[in-house]
Amino acid sequence: MADSVVAFAPGRANLIGEHTDYNDGLALPFAIEAGVTVTALARQGSELVVRALDEEHSFPLAAIGSGPTGGWRDFVRGTLAELADGGHSPPPAQVAIDGTVPRGAGLGSSAALGVALFLGLLALSGAPEPDRVELARLCSRVENHWVGARTGLLDQLASLLGERDTALRIDFRTLDVRAVPLELGGWRLVSVDSGEQRALAGAGYNRRREECETARERLGLHSLRDADRERAAALPDPLERRVRHVIEENERVDAAVRALERADLQELGRLLDASHASLRDLYDASTPAVERTVIALKEAGAAGARMMGGGFGGHVIALLPPEVEAPEEALELRPAQGARLTR
Ligand code: GLA
Repeated sequence: MADSVVAFAPGRANLIGEHTDYNDGLALPFAIEAGVTVTALARQGSELVVRALDEEHSFPLAAIGSGPTGGWRDFVRGTLAELADGGHSPPPAQVAIDGTVPRGAGLGSSAALGVALFLGLLALSGAPEPDRVELARLCSRVENHWVGARTGLLDQLASLLGERDTALRIDFRTLDVRAVPLELGGWRLVSVDSGEQRALAGAGYNRRREECETARERLGLHSLRDADRERAAALPDPLERRVRHVIEENERVDAAVRALERADLQELGRLLDASHASLRDLYDASTPAVERTVIALKEAGAAGARMMGGGFGGHVIALLPPEVEAPEEALELRPAQGARLTR
């Protein structure tokens, strides 16, 4: 067992491929510089004392309890439970959680918290780190079962596997991950807050998942990855539109990879716009505040702009040509290294 550890996990941006991960589809995310740091120091006693968001809470290591109660504590209880399931027990410790990634923004703040906690507590218990794809699965179990958000693996994989100057083409059917160099020349990717926070455990995200599930069952498929336009066209509204989004968004991911390979950033911008239109019109995942933000970025000269992450609020990602100035409040998104122990 270690006496002290510091674990850092980044948030993520998603260039393209939204609401595809839980449909066995494709996405092209990257880890960003902002993230969550977990500092843990072994102490006497029988509890984990955790401080986050100016709140301190003690978790008895012997009795974890069950079910979500809301807030960051669920991540701690879920992580402890998953660790116990895997036969690991972290020692009593004093833990501090600090973050630089905006919360509820569609920048993977929940996954960054989950990954940093898992990595930190696992290291504190002295266990070797499992395979990172396996670790992503464990973290997403915490989110699904303990936090109540039925999210896929996009955020966790990006946070764990991120590399500098690189986007990751992830195939969620095979969990095959391919590094795609993100060479932007003088162009920049920025993220702008729509001013509307959203919660992943909220109704919209989980409802979309259910709709995809219903569509999949009606089509008699193992996953929507296998859906085709002709058969999907027979589904009632809104299921037909949801499936069409998934089919076309998967195609856009590979089109974006090809555009990056030939350094065609105008085309990448066009694909971001098309992704946004689809998320707005076919997936109904945009909001008036997000629309205003997208329109303002386009009017300011962005080559492409779209809602990012689960939607229903949060941040907008935009691709800016060299001559276009970033809005003052924009956060520049640079592909960064994935999660790591820093001590
Ligand atoms: C959230 C979820 C991801 C993914 C995106 C939408 O970020 O955590 O699993 O489903 O929404 O692409």
